[in-house]
Amino acid sequence: MRNEFESSKESHSHYKHFMSDVPFSPTSTDVSPTESALMTLHLATSEMTKVLKEIRKNNRILIQPLQDVVFPAVQMMSSEPGIFNLILQLGQKDDYTSQHSIAVAILSLKLGRALNLSFEDQTDLLQGAVLHDIGKLRIPDEILNKPTSLTHAEYEEMKRHTVYGYELIERTGAAPEVQARIALEHHERLNGSGYPYNKKDDEIHPLSKIVSVIDSFHAMSSMRVYRDQIPFYEILVKLHHDMFGMFDPLVTLTFLRMMMNELVGTHVELSNGERGVIKVISPQAPTLPMIEVGQTVIDLSQMTGIKIVRIVE
Ligand SMILES: [Fe+2]
Repeated sequence: MRNEFESSKESHSHYKHFMSDVPFSPTSTDVSPTESALMTLHLATSEMTKVLKEIRKNNRILIQPLQDVVFPAVQMMSSEPGIFNLILQLGQKDDYTSQHSIAVAILSLKLGRALNLSFEDQTDLLQGAVLHDIGKLRIPDEILNKPTSLTHAEYEEMKRHTVYGYELIERTGAAPEVQARIALEHHERLNGSGYPYNKKDDEIHPLSKIVSVIDSFHAMSSMRVYRDQIPFYEILVKLHHDMFGMFDPLVTLTFLRMMMNELVGTHVELSNGERGVIKVISPQAPTLPMIEVGQTVIDLSQMTGIKIVRIVE
């Protein structure tokens, strides 16, 4: 591990964008992903599974399938209408780590674009996000898939996936160091409460800050072996809460607004049991949209008791 890593400072100049620039009018009322997007996602997931198996077996990263299939697939899917809708319905089957890597990369790239990152930063963000969790392949299955709480020693080992990922990417010699740094830092938090090094604020690379928001969002929105799926509104509340202290506020708010804007037209289930369609997102309260239910439209920002529980097909 290089020492300059620990003390490096990065400015926020990576984010040249302001939230008010994120467009809020829906560009399309059709939010279903296309057939080709579904096929691309399937192909990318199976290639990623191959890459992960090779890491598990021989402790090395296969660059070719990443460059030939996975990276271009993420690039393509990040511009697909309805990709949020699709991603929110994934994560309930096998291949969790593959699906998670690809979903995090797609959403990170979208967010990086909304933050107006340079082309080079977008490339590092895409590739680093695909690789962010590969260190998990060095963690024993008994720990990864344990249905009950981890012991202290097991949790310490789990946290090492960040360092293992960094070492693996560094060893390939093919990836810029920032990509290894994303793997190392995606569980660090701005207030120093993260791991593995309790880094703070600008000790954490701006691209790692983007991946950490998306990683946290996607992990919460997926069904895992050790718990049931978290209701959608609880994820939004948690991100809102963590935006002050844990995550970069600009990155988090831009993400929430971008996601809710893209979910216009999506069918949702509400906490009162009714189903409706997201119609209008307010810039002031992006996570409390107006929902069409039957012949009426209800405004969640005015109806404090009613919340979105989940996205439905
Ligand atoms: Fe992770």
